[in-house]
Amino acid sequence: MNPFVLPISSFTTYTQNRMFDDTPLVIGSPPQLLKWVGNKHRFAEKIVSMFPADYNKYIEPFVGTGAVLATFNPTKAIAGDMLKPLIELMELLQNFPDKLVESYSLNWNQFVADRKSHYEKVKNSYNAHPNPLDLLFISRTCYGGVMRFTKEGKISTPIGPHKPVPPESFENRVAIWNSRVKNTKFLHADYRETMRLAEKGDIIYCDPPYVDSQAILYGAQSFKLKDLFTAIEDCVRKGAKVALSIDGTKKSGNKVLSFEFPLDLFKRELFIDNGHSMLKRFQKSGENMDGEFVKERLLLTW
Ligand SMILES: C[S@@+](CC[C@H](N)C(=O)[O-])C[C@H]1O[C@@H](n2cnc3c(N)ncnc32)[C@H](O)[C@@H]1O
Repeated sequence: MNPFVLPISSFTTYTQNRMFDDTPLVIGSPPQLLKWVGNKHRFAEKIVSMFPADYNKYIEPFVGTGAVLATFNPTKAIAGDMLKPLIELMELLQNFPDKLVESYSLNWNQFVADRKSHYEKVKNSYNAHPNPLDLLFISRTCYGGVMRFTKEGKISTPIGPHKPVPPESFENRVAIWNSRVKNTKFLHADYRETMRLAEKGDIIYCDPPYVDSQAILYGAQSFKLKDLFTAIEDCVRKGAKVALSIDGTKKSGNKVLSFEFPLDLFKRELFIDNGHSMLKRFQKSGENMDGEFVKERLLLTW
């Protein structure tokens, strides 16, 4: 289904299909490097199709697993995140891709020999000393890619029942991803610091932690949407374009999430069909999720 865009003033009335004259050449999403529920892998191509072809640099202040970054394949970029081992992982990917492949293969072989005990060993190792290589392997082997962190930053997800991708296939992914992030500078930084680097002509994509149901998954404890809007306003004032992912109609329990935002800041919004939410399915273990339709929503300042 084609994405469609609504003028921000008519949220509920779908008025027009729009052909995008500024659609860049999209070369497609690479297969996931990390398996991480809630990442933007499934939506990345549509999100990226909204970005202008001409831009100064690309900024992604909540880069996470890099699904959108790697799909966009920017010519010049800055990407930041507060989860240090994730940024360290991206830096390894850039500078020492063989280390990732070697570590994954080693883990994979030990895992195949004794799944449960090796998973627990890697998880304990990460929880004692958070590091990129353990994080990578846990994400590939944990239950449904549900990377759940405690307040102290420890991973609590149990092992998944699936077989992780074989080392040869992982090596291919590393090669693709290595080329997709070659022009990116990674920062272990708060989004405000990263967004301060915005200049005229930049395109900024924000996928903040969700304040409600994803709190434990993506480190949302101290995140305030209002502060993000202030940072976005500053970027727009400098002449940058900002795209913001936000859950439009997501339900958390019986509560429909809603938020207020400065109406004059955003000009358009994009809805992308999502179908079922994997996160909910995991929490409700096996319950039918019919009726809990989640739409991916993107707000654009241009
Ligand atoms: C919803 S996730 C982004 C997912 C990403 N789009 C992907 O496809 O993987 C939000 C990210 O924001 C990071 N984060 C949370 N608080 C932050 C902050 N104050 N500044 C920068 N990053 C933050 C989390 O570590 C997480 O990786």
